[in-house]
Amino acid sequence: MGKVISFINQKGGVGKTTMAFNTAFALAQKGKKVLAIDLDPQANLTLLFEAKNNYNLHHLLINSIKELKMIHVPAMLSEILHYSKGNAVVDLIPGGQELSGFDLTVAGINAPRQLILRKFLEINTLKDRYDYIVIDCPPTLGLLVINALCASDGVIIPFKADDFSQKGLEHFYQVLSDISDMGIVKSPDIVLHVPNLVDLRRKQENDDLTKIIEIVDQEIGEGKVFSPFLNKAGLVKSLSGRKSVFDFKGQDFNELREKFTGIADKIEEWANVRQQ
Ligand SMILES: Nc1ncnc2c1ncn2[C@@H]1O[C@H](COP(=O)(O)OP(=O)(O)O)[C@@H](O)[C@H]1O
Ligand SMILES: [Mg+2]
Repeated sequence: MGKVISFINQKGGVGKTTMAFNTAFALAQKGKKVLAIDLDPQANLTLLFEAKNNYNLHHLLINSIKELKMIHVPAMLSEILHYSKGNAVVDLIPGGQELSGFDLTVAGINAPRQLILRKFLEINTLKDRYDYIVIDCPPTLGLLVINALCASDGVIIPFKADDFSQKGLEHFYQVLSDISDMGIVKSPDIVLHVPNLVDLRRKQENDDLTKIIEIVDQEIGEGKVFSPFLNKAGLVKSLSGRKSVFDFKGQDFNELREKFTGIADKIEEWANVRQQ
């Protein structure tokens, strides 16, 4: 059975899309079958895949709700699924700005609104078809993200080491425990926290990072914070070329490739333990 992993942080600009994209390719590079899902109305991940569709995840989700039959559109997963080219292949279910209306569209339904994505994955047997499903979340803790959490086996939290991140993290842990308390689904495991855009020369940032690692060690367990990503021109360059770091052969990309492979290794370690 495949594993669903969401890249989550209620803040924007912390590297969710960057990490989801490159980690998906790192897993594919290791021979895994990988599906990426763009859950963000801003659809940055979809842009990276250069996927163009009239319909997107929003339409597929709405089509999966029987009560909303009157607004269904002729959109099918097989037509919307975007197949990437290259050595390491990652498929994509594109997102789109329609997702910003998701909350309102499903506001009146009787079926459990937080389980729509989970049911969609089930109906389409996507966890049987892929080893990993990587979800890129929008920067909120709204209904879309609650859907991601209820559909996920694990989460990865990219963050910037500042004071807000500490409060943000604690808030996020609370949301996970609220999901657990609802008693409908098991809340996802925290696979990893990934410090990003870290400037180790700044003392304040070093102090904040140390403090965050202490909190995570205490509340979640040791070994759950990955080594920091610094501000890397290579990442910006690869993203503007709409490519993963695995598509670049240059020496300067060695370190980035190793780091994303390292994240993929951590995911595999976690998945193996979880299977038992
Ligand atoms: N380690 C990094 N070094 C340099 N630029 C980065 C790094 N991580 C992310 N970025 C850039 O920061 C911006 C925000 O990243 P993004 O992944 O879109 O964040 P989010 O999805 O959390 O909003 C993007 O322009 C991306 O290119
Ligand atoms: Mg993003």
